[in-house]
Amino acid sequence: MRQDTDATTGSGSPPDAAEIAQLLAAGAAAPSSHNTQPWRLRWHDGAVEVHGDPDRALAAADPDGRELRMACGAALANVRLTVRAQGRRAHVQLLPEPEEPWFFGRVRPGAALPPTGWEVELAAAIPRRHTDRHPFSGRPISAALREQLGRAAWRERCRLVLVDGSEQRRQLRELTAEAHRRQRADPAFVAEWERWIGHSDRVDDGLPHPRARHEPRPDDAWRLRDFAGTIAADERFPGEDPVEDEPTIAVVASYDDTRLAHVQAGQAMEQVLLTATARGLASSFVASPLEVATTRVQVRALLGGVLWPQMVLRLGRGRSVHPTPRRADTGD
Ligand SMILES: Cc1cc2nc3c(=O)[nH]c(=O)nc-3n(C[C@H](O)[C@H](O)[C@H](O)COP(=O)(O)O)c2cc1C
Repeated sequence: MRQDTDATTGSGSPPDAAEIAQLLAAGAAAPSSHNTQPWRLRWHDGAVEVHGDPDRALAAADPDGRELRMACGAALANVRLTVRAQGRRAHVQLLPEPEEPWFFGRVRPGAALPPTGWEVELAAAIPRRHTDRHPFSGRPISAALREQLGRAAWRERCRLVLVDGSEQRRQLRELTAEAHRRQRADPAFVAEWERWIGHSDRVDDGLPHPRARHEPRPDDAWRLRDFAGTIAADERFPGEDPVEDEPTIAVVASYDDTRLAHVQAGQAMEQVLLTATARGLASSFVASPLEVATTRVQVRALLGGVLWPQMVLRLGRGRSVHPTPRRADTGD
């Protein structure tokens, strides 16, 4: 599938080595489940290619590879925005070679075209976006900003469903807790978790935080998987209540549940996250209820039964957090 930002092609100076390195780094800054960084990014034949890496798949948490495709979609979105910020058209093909199931997309820089101010802001947010698992302040997000977040998902053919109603939130919280319980009771899930989270050998992938916690916080609704152990007492705001009030909960949802839809949902997720970052919002992920098949069906029903939920996001007013490492070699 081709997704040109502009159909016109033309001549422009191709990216130099530093610009190519910047494109690959932007792709590698994408979020990924357990920070597996499940991609191989390479510059080939005048384009950045994003391939999935089957060796970095999460067989227990993500048996269908849906989240892996979303992470690669997020990497594609970052590359595309960075091509635009470098002042070139971005010609995007998703799933360019049908016989290559792990080849998720290609972004080819084209003719010179100055970026818009907003494209520059979004690209600048790429290295500033970090998952923030701290409690968020209860200050509400304005209606205008909520609408802008919705448009960010819409631009990638997805929807952002804001879960506002108290009954809907209660049900989603219960499904999250249920999924979390099931995963913690699954030895394969726990073994996989322990390979990626808090493992002392991991320095540039996984979550190598020295305080990594294998058990979730018992006292929280949305941050059950606080596996970075980031909420140590000395890291709180003075007087901060470790149990937050009501963060904004938003679900990135698609009209389909195909491989292509997963890549597009990853792009939408990243556009939402970068929009949030550019507008001063913090964000984190609540993946469990969509990782367990039975609770995902229930979340789908909760949203009306038409859209496919792809990622639950928690948004709010946060604080500065440490970046999670990335591996240096992202290509082949
Ligand atoms: C598909 C997907 C699922 C994720 N699930 C969770 C989650 O359930 N809980 C969580 O705290 N972080 C989750 N994350 C966030 C990753 O742990 C995070 O992106 C990774 O550690 C890299 O850190 P960064 O986002 O700060 O760059 C998820 C990310 C993605 C893309």
